[in-house]
Amino acid sequence: MDNEELIEKAKVAQRNAYAPYSKFHVGSALLCKGGEVFMGCNVENRSFTPTVCAERSAIFSAIANGTRDFEKIAVVGEAIDFTYPCGVCLQVISEFVDDDFPVILQNNNGEIREFALKELLPLTFRLEERTTK
Ligand code: THU
Repeated sequence: MDNEELIEKAKVAQRNAYAPYSKFHVGSALLCKGGEVFMGCNVENRSFTPTVCAERSAIFSAIANGTRDFEKIAVVGEAIDFTYPCGVCLQVISEFVDDDFPVILQNNNGEIREFALKELLPLTFRLEERTTK
């Protein structure tokens, strides 16, 4: 599936975003190695902190459905610039993929750019890098 098609799926998911507080609607589409696509949207809460971002929503949905082999993820938001995934979502994505994992973004001018995960999260936290036991 090409990047444009995956972005279109992220836009479909974006329409389901529940964002009455920020009014910032985000959608994501996660392509798995087997060809399945899991969609995600942000889901806010009146207590604010339980809010889940679109990216984690898609990742958790895939995991819950027994799929952990991911090919790439597309994310769309409402910013004029690209909506870069937050640090928490990047860390969650990094748990399951390697540093070159493609993150595809579209800005509000329709421009699509592809980043490697390592560009967005160069210094990932890794438990195995502890120096003491
Ligand atoms: N949000 C996402 O869904 N993904 C991100 O990577 C950044 C932020 C959502 C969370 C919240 O519902 C809204 O955008 C404003 O922060």
